[in-house]
Amino acid sequence: MDSAIPMTQPKTTDSSSARRDTLSVTDNRTGKTYEIPVTNDTIRANDLRKIRVDESDFGMMSYDPAFNNTASCISRITFIDGDQGILRYRGYPIEELAEKATYLETAYLLLHGELPTESQLKEWQHHITHHTFIHESIKKFLDGFHYDAHPMGMLISTIAALSTFYPDAKHIFDPESRKKQTYRLIGKMPTIAAFSYRHTLGMPYVYPDNDLSYPGNFLNMLFRTSETRYRPNPTLEKALDILFILHADHEQNCSANTIRGVGSSHVDPFCASAAATAALYGPLHGGANEEALRMLMEIGSVQKVPEFIKRVKAGETRLMGFGHRIYKNYDPRARIIKRIAYEVFDLMGKNPLLEIALECERIALEDEYFVKRKLYPNVDFYTGLIYQSMGFPMTMFPVLFAIPRMSGWVAQWEEMLLDAEQKIARPRQIYLGHDTRSYVPIEQRS
Ligand code: CMC
Repeated sequence: MDSAIPMTQPKTTDSSSARRDTLSVTDNRTGKTYEIPVTNDTIRANDLRKIRVDESDFGMMSYDPAFNNTASCISRITFIDGDQGILRYRGYPIEELAEKATYLETAYLLLHGELPTESQLKEWQHHITHHTFIHESIKKFLDGFHYDAHPMGMLISTIAALSTFYPDAKHIFDPESRKKQTYRLIGKMPTIAAFSYRHTLGMPYVYPDNDLSYPGNFLNMLFRTSETRYRPNPTLEKALDILFILHADHEQNCSANTIRGVGSSHVDPFCASAAATAALYGPLHGGANEEALRMLMEIGSVQKVPEFIKRVKAGETRLMGFGHRIYKNYDPRARIIKRIAYEVFDLMGKNPLLEIALECERIALEDEYFVKRKLYPNVDFYTGLIYQSMGFPMTMFPVLFAIPRMSGWVAQWEEMLLDAEQKIARPRQIYLGHDTRSYVPIEQRS
């Protein structure tokens, strides 16, 4: 894209003139007008640099804390229309994938751009399955954690530790190496997650069973006790697989931005995805599912919902599992999750917190505070209820988000690496601190 070109001639306002894909900006400080190219409804921030008061001026920047209106990349992976409540992976609507695909098929789609053929899927499943085992030393490493260590802390550290086991992961521009690390990351996530869980219970680790499906094997490693062969319940196995599909990617969210940012320093993918997992842990991101359930427990009864909503409106607390930077409509994932919740409750019994959640949603969807701000339930509002009914402790909820998100992270990381326009991520700042001043000896300080 060309740089901004200062205009010397007054701009024509003739409506019959041909449409130009440019933006004209007049700098009232100098009276100069600049024409800036517009591509995909976007201007390049660098083109603003031509807007200068004089030769010594650094040039205009745009200020956008929290990236409210800044595209940091061009992506072809996931599409969200937040006003319409649309989510698509590589063009495929999330509803269709949730109904017809498996998680591993979806992961392949995210990473390769196309749905796999039968033989490609078979090969993909084979590779993922044969990378589910972890080095025996990792078990010793996990043993060092306290019994009450949060499993997300264990997961983050263990993913980072994988980097020390696989130094070949440093060869990030070698496609074969990237492929291998992708198998390892997606294959080992359920194993590390399940081992972390078993560690908190003081129970022996259960090794992967490679004859089971991806979610089936995860359930095996979590819950198997004395059975010679664990057989996952098909309803729970299917529900978990759909939940994995729904959580696989979500374009430039906080953790995707993290893996792109950290990965842009060319660190290996284990360190970059450990950073992404850490970003996910926060209560405003993937940790919201745990917080939403804690909130429902704190509310305690349907009668107490109006009182809690009053506190939210007074700004004392947030309705966790509500609101989204992009969705200004019902999160399409939440709609599917609500349906799965009933399927799981039919099997495991209704979660007593469901009534409280439904009442929160009912009041919020009618209340002016939430309507005006377009706050709707997001993916994290109902997942906790399902996970709890499946037998997961609350601390495992963000882990259940992280496992499938690994495929999205790796896809985002690889897209960033192969994008010739990308460089090390390095934002600008507006410095408003002190100008230069002399050091003051300590005895002269007041
Ligand atoms: N409860 C009450 N008020 C809220 C909430 C909420 N959950 N979310 C936003 N608001 C209000 C906020 O106070 C602000 O009001 P005002 O304009 O009067 O200051 C307005 O809505 C806009 O909020 P914001 O914080 O500027 O919005 P954001 O885009 O920066 O934040 C969010 C998005 C998801 C962090 C936020 O909605 C939130 O904190 N939600 C609760 C945590 C949560 O559920 N997170 C999971 C997100 S989905 C999973 C994922 O992909 O991470």
